[in-house]
Amino acid sequence: MRPQQQTPFEGPFMVLLCALTLVVAEGLAVQAGGQVASLLFGGHHFIPGGVGAGTGIFLRLWRHPADPALAWSPVDRPSLPGPLAMWASLLVPQLVLVGLVVLAFRLVRHVQSAAGNQHGGPAKASRAHVERTMGRRAVERHTTALYGKDAAATREPLALGVDVATGARLFAKSEDYILAVGVPRVGKGEGFVIPAVLRHKGPAVVTATRHDTYMDTATVRAKVGPVYVFDPQGLVPKAEKLRWNPVKGCEVPQKAILRARGFAGFAGVGPAVDGGGAYWEQVAASIIRSYLHAAALEGLGVEQLLDWSRRPAAREPVRILSRHPGAARGWDEDLAASAEVEPRHRDSIWATVRRAFDCFADPMVLEATRVDHDTFDPGEFLNENGTIYLMGSPGAQHSVAPIVAALIEDVVDTSRHQAARSQTRRLESGLVLMLDECANIAPLGDLPKLAAELGGLGITTAVILQSVASARNIWGEAGERALRDLANITLVWGGQKDVAFLEEISRLAGEHDELVETVTQNELGKSSSWTPRRMPVLPIGDIANLAPNHAVVVSPHLRPRIAYLPSWRKDKILSALVGQGQNSLIGGISDGE
Ligand SMILES: Nc1ncnc2c1ncn2[C@@H]1O[C@H](COP(=O)(O)OP(=O)(O)OP(=O)(O)O)[C@@H](O)[C@H]1O
Ligand SMILES: [Mg+2]
Repeated sequence: MRPQQQTPFEGPFMVLLCALTLVVAEGLAVQAGGQVASLLFGGHHFIPGGVGAGTGIFLRLWRHPADPALAWSPVDRPSLPGPLAMWASLLVPQLVLVGLVVLAFRLVRHVQSAAGNQHGGPAKASRAHVERTMGRRAVERHTTALYGKDAAATREPLALGVDVATGARLFAKSEDYILAVGVPRVGKGEGFVIPAVLRHKGPAVVTATRHDTYMDTATVRAKVGPVYVFDPQGLVPKAEKLRWNPVKGCEVPQKAILRARGFAGFAGVGPAVDGGGAYWEQVAASIIRSYLHAAALEGLGVEQLLDWSRRPAAREPVRILSRHPGAARGWDEDLAASAEVEPRHRDSIWATVRRAFDCFADPMVLEATRVDHDTFDPGEFLNENGTIYLMGSPGAQHSVAPIVAALIEDVVDTSRHQAARSQTRRLESGLVLMLDECANIAPLGDLPKLAAELGGLGITTAVILQSVASARNIWGEAGERALRDLANITLVWGGQKDVAFLEEISRLAGEHDELVETVTQNELGKSSSWTPRRMPVLPIGDIANLAPNHAVVVSPHLRPRIAYLPSWRKDKILSALVGQGQNSLIGGISDGE
């Protein structure tokens, strides 16, 4: 059998030491009680004694509950009062003793935690330490510091499950960027996304490739604010669909630039391609921004953009940009100059522009983005604590995804402006971006950069991926690295097979001493010895084979730890909330207790 690793201050020795200390301390306390009794109620003089005498009195005391004075020596007894005054006098030093013990415990815990913090958190953090770092109260204190007391009362911290080692409930701060990685069907939706959306009280953007998140959360979210569903492919047949015109807002040049960059990024010449690709993307982006700007100034729609993208020599956008008083200066000349380059170059540029608009080839997407159908205002959505579900099938990377990415960018841009106007310079309403199946449905070109920026605006971002390789496909190696490095919290469910990724998490968890048995056999028989060996706290095999509904939580101030994230169906309050859609329950949403 493997022996338990114990310090000299654990086990039977510690019990013996505690018992001895208790007897000596009680001896002193009883002695003090006797002095108090004599001075206040008895002979009014000191009783001679010492630690040894006090210990004897303490051990005899329990034989004389009716008259405690009998525990003292016959010489001292005449100086002591009756039973009531005796017990009252003995109680006072007992209370002092209890107070001292509590104080000593607190001091030891404080010293231990301070020592642990100097080394990046104790290897075996106590429940109190975990709660001080990631507990509900710690997160609420942080929210109060940023937004004031009222905000902390109306916000619900984002739950990250229960810490298996200590039983503490873990929460993310409102400005955290969370990266969640788990293979299909491992419980990312049931254990993390859906409960977070159900408990959230402010505006939320939720992306999904299946209808389950919408089906489980929409009725509850409808009690918080308006629910919008952008679902050109009809994944949720009965929901009322949101229509959004991507040209709207582009009369502002900055918005046109931002949106054009987003569309150009989907032209198939993203960061994964060489420098030449990036050049075509840049040139295409400058043409697309002029088209978007011109169309917005004239109140035209996507169909007009498509028409111009088919005719590089079209004069209409140039005319609008040169005549309209609100047009950005010089964009007309830029657009005209782009059309006058040598034909071979021009064909390549416009081919990229057309590819960027490929998403509108899908008639359902075109229908959802027509100018006369626009029903969505990001400002209203934020002010009214709305929920927007952005849906598209996993294969919709080239049809729905560019619009979804542009729509999210629009919401983020509006949030940025609202944050700039607010007193705290942050979005007061606490937007959550729950980007489930992010690589498939919401591959925002500059997500790695955005992830770093959004926390500062008061936006909580969760990027949910099935594997880190899926991020590499979209954002390239540097982008994927940035997405991982910038995460305040990383959640990893079992089943991951990227050994380098698992190794990294295992290393972050550090090492500890483990006793390893060495068995030797000779003519005298078998003998064994135990030697300490440095072993990883979380071996990669353990991370890859986590129990169902468990994930490793990597956070900045605690060593990586395992959390239990059960399905929201196991939470009675959440199940009732979903089942009945009861308005009254929203104020008292539980955190799974
Ligand atoms: N309505 C339901 N009732 C009972 N179990 C369900 C229900 N929906 C999903 N599950 C189960 O919960 C588990 C986790 O599903 P979940 O949708 O959370 O996976 P996921 O990690 O989000 O997967 P994906 O990457 O495919 O979205 C699965 O085993 C699934 O079968
Ligand atoms: Mg899912």
